[in-house]
Amino acid sequence: MRIFITGIRGQLGTALTKRWPAAQVSGCDLPECDISQLQPTLDAVADARPQVVIHCAAWTDVDGCARDPIRAYQVNAIGTQHVALAARAVGARLLLLSSNEVFDGTQAAPYGEQDAPCPANPYGWSKLAAEWTAQQIVDDCCVVRSSWLFGHGGRNFVHRILELARGAAPLRVVTDETGAPTAVEDLADAIFSLAESGQRGIFHLVNAGFASRYELARAVLDLCGQRATMIEPALLASYVRASTPPRNGCLRNSAAAAIGIQLRPWQEALQDFVGSLQPAGSAAR
Ligand SMILES: NC(=O)c1ccc[n+]([C@@H]2O[C@H](COP(=O)([O-])OP(=O)(O)OC[C@H]3O[C@@H](n4cnc5c(N)ncnc54)[C@H](OP(=O)(O)O)[C@@H]3O)[C@@H](O)[C@H]2O)c1
Repeated sequence: MRIFITGIRGQLGTALTKRWPAAQVSGCDLPECDISQLQPTLDAVADARPQVVIHCAAWTDVDGCARDPIRAYQVNAIGTQHVALAARAVGARLLLLSSNEVFDGTQAAPYGEQDAPCPANPYGWSKLAAEWTAQQIVDDCCVVRSSWLFGHGGRNFVHRILELARGAAPLRVVTDETGAPTAVEDLADAIFSLAESGQRGIFHLVNAGFASRYELARAVLDLCGQRATMIEPALLASYVRASTPPRNGCLRNSAAAAIGIQLRPWQEALQDFVGSLQPAGSAAR
C-alpha cells in the first residue's frame, strides 16, 4: 500500500513514517509544499500516486490561530480542501487528523464521536471546517480526533514542562483543564490499524485515561526523578491567553473500540517516552 503523509516532518508525521516500509511512504511538508496553495498540493499527491493520504499538516499553534484566524482557516480548512481534492483526483482513501478542540469542553462527560461539535476558538473552528470539507470531497474518508500529543521532535506540553523545570522560576500549572495525553507512537499504531481496516467515519483515538494539566506535569517530573520539584496549582482564569482552551478536552474512543483498536493508559506511554529522553543508565529514582 502506498501512503502519502502531509506534515511528514511534524511530530505525528515522523512517527507515522516508521509504521510502513520506507519504500511505501512519501509525503510533503513546508517549505517544499504549502497546502494552502492548490496546485503544488495536487502535484505533490499526483506524483506519489498514493492509495492512502494521511493528512497531518496543520497550523497547530492554538494561540497563534486565535491571533490570526484567517491564516488558521487558510491552512487548516482551505489546506484540507486542497489535500482532499488531491486525494480524490488519484482515488485515494483520506485520513484527516482533527482535534478535541472541535468541542467547547462544557460537557461534563468525555466526548464521544456522536456528540455535536461546537468549537470555542478559531483553531477548533478551522479543524471542524476541515472535517466537513474532507468528508464532503472524499467518500472514503476517516476523521481521526486526538488530543494533547507528545512525541520526539515536537513542541508539546511535556517538553515545555521539562524546559520550565530546568529554569529558576516556580512552575504554575492549571488544575481545571483536563484531557487525554496521547503518545504519537501509540496514535501512529492506531492510525496504521485504521488505515488498513478500510473503515470510514469519525474515530476518537487517544491513550486511555484522563488527566489535568497539573496531574500530567506532576507525572512528567516524577518520572524524571524530580519529585522534590514543586508545582503550584493554578486556574485557567488566572492566565491571559489569546485562545480559550476547552476545560474538558476528554475524548472517548467508542468507534475504535468497536473494531478492536485499543490504546494503552497514558501513564504507560508517558513512562516509555520520558525513559527514551534520558541517557542510558540514568533511570528515574
Ligand atoms: N499536537 C497536538 O496536541 C494535537 C492534538 C490533536 C490533534 N492534532 C492534530 O494532529 C495533526 C498532527 O499534529 P502534530 O502535533 O504532529 O503537529 P506538528 O508537529 O505541528 O506538525 C504539523 C506539520 O505541518 C506543517 N505545516 C504547517 N503549515 C503547513 C502548510 N501550510 N503546508 C504544509 N505543511 C504545513 C508543519 O510545518 P512547520 O513546523 O514548519 O510549521 C509541521 O511539520 C495536526 O493536524 C493537528 O491539528 C494535534
